[in-house]
Amino acid sequence: MANEQLCCCHNVTLEDVKEEINKGVKTFKTLQENTGIGTDCPPCEKNNRALFEKLLQE
Ligand code: FES
Repeated sequence: MANEQLCCCHNVTLEDVKEEINKGVKTFKTLQENTGIGTDCPPCEKNNRALFEKLLQE
């Protein structure tokens, strides 16, 4: 599911995260500043941080 929602608090999808990476975002902190992803729920933060690190390697 390309448009899978990763963070429902801030309505961030997998596509949004990939787009941020394509724009040159290199750290989860910057991703959070740009999208708000995982800034409210610790489990969301943990899962999406791991996913982001994985996507960065691709
Ligand atoms: S679901 Fe992502 S911060 Fe709450």
